[in-house]
Amino acid sequence: MDIKKAIIYVFSGSGNTLKIARLYKDEFEAKGVETTIYEIDKDYKNAPDALGYDIAGFAYPIHAFNPPEIFIDFAKSLKEAKGISSFIFKTSGEPLWLNDSSSQQLIKILSLKGYDIINERHIVMPYNMIFRHRDEVARQLYIYARALTKAYAEDALYGERENLYLPLMKRVHSTLFKIEWGFAKFNGRLFRVSKKKCIYCGKCERNCPVSNIRIVDKKFKFGNKCTMCTRCSMFCPTNAINIGILNSWKVNGDYQLDKKLKDDSIKFPYISDETKGLYKSVYLNYFKKADKLLKERNIRLEVLPSDEIGEYNLAQSIAHIENKD
Ligand SMILES: Cc1cc2nc3c(=O)[nH]c(=O)nc-3n(C[C@H](O)[C@H](O)[C@H](O)COP(=O)(O)O)c2cc1C
Repeated sequence: MDIKKAIIYVFSGSGNTLKIARLYKDEFEAKGVETTIYEIDKDYKNAPDALGYDIAGFAYPIHAFNPPEIFIDFAKSLKEAKGISSFIFKTSGEPLWLNDSSSQQLIKILSLKGYDIINERHIVMPYNMIFRHRDEVARQLYIYARALTKAYAEDALYGERENLYLPLMKRVHSTLFKIEWGFAKFNGRLFRVSKKKCIYCGKCERNCPVSNIRIVDKKFKFGNKCTMCTRCSMFCPTNAINIGILNSWKVNGDYQLDKKLKDDSIKFPYISDETKGLYKSVYLNYFKKADKLLKERNIRLEVLPSDEIGEYNLAQSIAHIENKD
């Protein structure tokens, strides 16, 4: 079938998945496929119907080996799709196999609605929770993500259909960890804001995708809809937000990946056969697999991009999010 129009439905808390969606869009458009990115937020019921497109993408960040609950709610709200060709991609902070089963429920929901899911891809990006990736690793992940997206976008448009179902043994933990959805709502009520640090810029209130934050007379009210996306605490300019029970895992501050991309004073590759310790054990295999794929597909890593390569800095993403108000 001749693919002319694509839609990518994306939920992104701190901008990683949105960045990847924009790279997909670029790749698609370079192949003549007009592409719409639709960001999921509390108004997901107004999302455009996929039937107006030749192909539909579904993109989310992994939260506790699952999509965030809002993404599942969105998928459940979709209309029947009558066999429309579809693909999934997800981002996460590490490449462990436990993340492999994160889409199982989503695949079931979409398939029952008639979406014809061709394949799923997983792209590792810097952590927005648990710990902050050091600059070298963040840069390396992003350089690889950009190259991998070229291959994955092609797979989404022209790839062979893959079997996406995993046996029970390999997906049971995802089912168990759905407890995170309830926990996120509970924990969201425990958020606190430091009066000493807060400058009352209102960014957290404006940008919350589920409108869970209200500032009334300089008092913060946190509701019970938190989806634990971290956007409020990650981009708080004064690091004033305490994220409840998970506060010791908080990551504050934009990674500024596009700035890092161009900064060749940041060592690349940082993780290699010579690296020692945890980073190597968790990430080296991911980079090696990526190297193999990129070689097969004749795609090179763009370590220092030329000016023609698109600028997708997070300031832009967030400005875009802010403009939705
Ligand atoms: C509540 C929460 C749970 C997370 N759980 C996982 C996980 O199970 N596995 C993982 O590798 N990364 C996990 N992460 C990290 C994110 O998946 C990763 O940083 C992702 O790229 C963020 O994408 P976003 O910026 O589009 O929101 C988690 C992040 C959050 C906030």
